[in-house]
Amino acid sequence: MDTLRLVRPGMEHLSQIADFRRELLDAGSSMDGCGPLIRIEDPMEWLLDTQARSRLETLPEGRVLSTQLLCMRGDTLAGMIQVRHILNEYLEKYAGHIGYAVRPSERRKGCGTWMLGAVLPVCRDIGLDKIMVACLDTNPASRKIILSWGGVYDRTVHEPEEDVNLEQYWIKL
Ligand SMILES: CC(C)(COP(=O)(O)OP(=O)(O)OC[C@H]1O[C@@H](n2cnc3c(N)ncnc32)[C@H](O)[C@@H]1OP(=O)(O)O)[C@@H](O)C(=O)NCCC(=O)NCCS
Repeated sequence: MDTLRLVRPGMEHLSQIADFRRELLDAGSSMDGCGPLIRIEDPMEWLLDTQARSRLETLPEGRVLSTQLLCMRGDTLAGMIQVRHILNEYLEKYAGHIGYAVRPSERRKGCGTWMLGAVLPVCRDIGLDKIMVACLDTNPASRKIILSWGGVYDRTVHEPEEDVNLEQYWIKL
């Protein structure tokens, strides 16, 4: 099996991004850590939006700087992971620094676990010394991933908009 690698999204990934999105939509999956992919059908538009969110000069109002990465297995886009550089009020209260998703056909092969580990040096490079990672209390896979990288449970909060409970963990870098 090909090894995994994290890369910045670029023009060369457009068809893979469309394919990835279609598979997640067909499966009715959430798209955590994929930026606005769930509402943006055109991969080029998504790419430009992602790039705009990665630089202060182009950051849309009300957003925080973020780094979007793709997890590639060979030529296959297996997963996406996003690092939010700072926590605004919503992120501090609920979602934390990191989001990630693995396409259904690539799940249960260690990709989610690998991605979170691989993004930790990226977080350090951004200047973070600890990160908050949250998962639904109904998501044992994500909980396992967070714990496997030393996540320390902090608290469970209720997110009223989606009416869900989020477990929040901190990972020291
Ligand atoms: C959560 C998610 C990222 C897991 O990705 P993955 O690549 O399947 O994860 P891994 O293969 O690294 O599995 C991690 C652990 O969870 C376990 N696991 C995976 N899927 C599971 C499931 N549906 N139920 C229970 N355990 C599960 C694995 O066996 C593994 O445990 P182990 O370390 O004891 O072997 C993926 O299911 C996903 O994208 N879900 C939708 C988006 C999402 O929930 N993102 C997380 C937001 S916090």
